[in-house]
Parts: sequence; C-alpha cells; structure tokens
Amino acid sequence: MKKIALFASGNGSNVQRIATFFKTNPDVEIPLVLTNNPGAGVLQRAKNLGLNTLVFSKDDFYHSQKIIDILNREGIDLVVLAGFLWLIPATMIAAFPNKIINIHPALLPKYGGKGMYGHHVHEAVIANKEKKSGITIHYVNEKYDDGQIIFQSSFDLAAEETPQSLAEKIHLQEYEHFPKVIEKLLKN
Ligand code: GRF
Repeated sequence: MKKIALFASGNGSNVQRIATFFKTNPDVEIPLVLTNNPGAGVLQRAKNLGLNTLVFSKDDFYHSQKIIDILNREGIDLVVLAGFLWLIPATMIAAFPNKIINIHPALLPKYGGKGMYGHHVHEAVIANKEKKSGITIHYVNEKYDDGQIIFQSSFDLAAEETPQSLAEKIHLQEYEHFPKVIEKLLKN
C-alpha cells in the first residue's frame, strides 16, 4: 500500500482529479488532504470525496514539527502539492527527500518563482507572446518552482488566447498527466 498526502491552497480541482483517479486502485490510499486556507474550495471537495482534511497555520508549518509528525504518523510515501502556495520549509524537505512534488502551470524554468501562480503565470506568458505553454511536474526544494523536473507537456497557444482560456487548457493537461505521473513515481 502506498500513501499520498495532498496539499492545496485553493479550489482543489487537481486534488479531486487525483482522488478520483486512485479511488479504484486498492494499492494507493489518500489518508489526508492538507490546506493552509480555511476558506479553500478544496475542503468541500475533499469532504464530498470522503477524505480527511487538516487546516494548519503558519506557526504549525514553519515553527513546529506538527505537520512532519502527522505525515510520518500516517506513513506518507509521497507528498503532492496541487495548487499549494506556501514555500516548503527546509525541515520538511529534509524529512521527505525526493518525496515532495509540485505541479506548476507553465514550462519551467520560465514563469516560476515567488508570485508566479495562477493567473499571474498565464498573463505573463501571453504578455511575452510565448508560442507555447504547458505544465511542469517537479521535485520540491527550498526555492519556489526550482527542483528537478520530472515531467513536462506543452501545447501551442492560440492567436486569441486569454489568461482564462489558457488556464482551462492547462487544467486539462494537469488532469490528464498529474495522476499518471504520481502513479509512476509510486511504483519506483
Ligand atoms: C493549477 O493550475 C496548478 O498548476 C497551480 O494551481 C492550480 C490549482 O488549480 N499550481 P486547482 O486548485 O487544482 O483547481
């Protein structure tokens, strides 16, 4: 049995997709969905899926062992950041070496780093007249969007692309690839 913890700060459609994907897989369990945001849509989605949730504070995350202890107690094999906005503390990276992954809605190393999330990314891609965008799944280190790249997929931007249309296309790519990449990593 492999166990995944899912972290999200917002809507949580990727969390829902991942949970649905693994629902019929008896070898993969999702013991916990964690968020820093008590108003995050992911909480309702997780509840609808029957998943346990935990809301944590800045103090819990940056000034205590609480989250690391919980992940260890649950026997988590892979930590998946799916739209999670806080930087991961060095203590947690050390506790889960090469076991924390993130998805980013652009082709890193471009359009990553602090403040580069959600519509900010898509607006920058369009403003720079990029021909392509896509998704990046990568290991997490102490910097935003900086760890080793595991997977990328890309597509051509349409001439009339808007941040909204781009976000929709990115989400479709995420739903398609993220669960499969997770599944593959769990087999290693
Ligand atoms: C995704 O596009 C992800 O790449 C980014 O934040 C978005 C989260 O969307 N990091 P959702 O909350 O899963 O709907």
